[in-house]
Amino acid sequence: MSQGARNPFAVRAYGPAVPRSPSASIAPTITGALELPRIVHLGPNLFGAAFTLMKLLPARHILDRARADGRLEPGTVVIESTSGTFGLALAMECRLRRRPLVLVSDPAVDPALRRRMRDLGAVVDIVAEPAPVGGYQQARLDRLAELRSRHPRHFWPAQYSNPDNPGAYGLLAEVLTAALGRVDVLVGPVGSGGSMCGTAAALRDGLQPELRAVAVDTPGSVLFGQPDAPRRIRGLGNSLMPPNLDHSAFDEVHWVSDREGFAATRALHRRHALYMGPTSGAAWLVAQWEARAEGHRYQDTVYDDAWLRREGLRLRRLPARPVEVDSPADGGPEWSWLGWNRRPLAAVTPWAGPLAMGSGGLARLGNAGHPGAAA
Ligand SMILES: Cc1ncc(COP(=O)(O)O)c(C=O)c1O
Repeated sequence: MSQGARNPFAVRAYGPAVPRSPSASIAPTITGALELPRIVHLGPNLFGAAFTLMKLLPARHILDRARADGRLEPGTVVIESTSGTFGLALAMECRLRRRPLVLVSDPAVDPALRRRMRDLGAVVDIVAEPAPVGGYQQARLDRLAELRSRHPRHFWPAQYSNPDNPGAYGLLAEVLTAALGRVDVLVGPVGSGGSMCGTAAALRDGLQPELRAVAVDTPGSVLFGQPDAPRRIRGLGNSLMPPNLDHSAFDEVHWVSDREGFAATRALHRRHALYMGPTSGAAWLVAQWEARAEGHRYQDTVYDDAWLRREGLRLRRLPARPVEVDSPADGGPEWSWLGWNRRPLAAVTPWAGPLAMGSGGLARLGNAGHPGAAA
């Protein structure tokens, strides 16, 4: 389970001199100190935005907005469903703001992360069984609905549907623009859609309407029209369709498999000493392809050859290029890409009607009629 750094990568057409501006400042809190990324030069025209914990940006912005309009008064319980980094970011923020927090999670949540969230005062409520449709994600949403009805004074950050999630990334767009001037291509993993859609929208609203946005997804994720299937890579991809994902923001989508993502994570470390999680590895694989230039938490998994071999996830050599496909149905099982051309999902996957899923404010793609679906 990833708890740390992830990042869109920014590609520039021409390699500039990297500006050096050493400055020392005092942050009011550790979350304020950690929310912005370091911009790292990774190739002649390739830059990475290396976050310590990217989800601090939406967690802080969502809570700030709720506080400003009276939805987060003292005594209000914050309730959210998460199995990862958004939960950790909320736990840090809620501790600092002295707000009680209940996180609904599932058995996949990393035990160390669970301990850390509890140490920060969060109640971590683990659902025992997956729902028959929608798996653990739906089971968590069902439990969330139950808890929300039990706590009349609660605030639900709702990272998958709250527009303040993408809205938080205006700050990232500012940082990228200040550091790089112009960004030609933005490449990043998509989970809730918040970071990529929010950053791309803010850059386009600013001085870069022609920015190209490239989504990194994984086979077996429904986000860009594939049927739901088991996935090993966490943080990117989804079994449910988040309303915060604006498909028409994207020019291309790439599906990177778990073993390619893990191998790329290792290569990112070996080549650039960037010790990040698999979402960063997957995004970097695609970003360095786009640029045509070329984590402590994963010691026992992604960075352990024996584990990779045991799990059948060891890839000796990174793929040189993705396979181009004409439809999401042909994407995967390994790295493949599709020209999305800023179309809405229904224009790309007319067979997959979105199916509203009750409590969570999410929608899920049905597999019925999907050319790749089993009968
Ligand atoms: C580690 C990591 N990277 C990337 C993402 C994707 O970001 P977003 O939810 O903004 O699409 C997530 C989302 O949970 C994540 O946990």
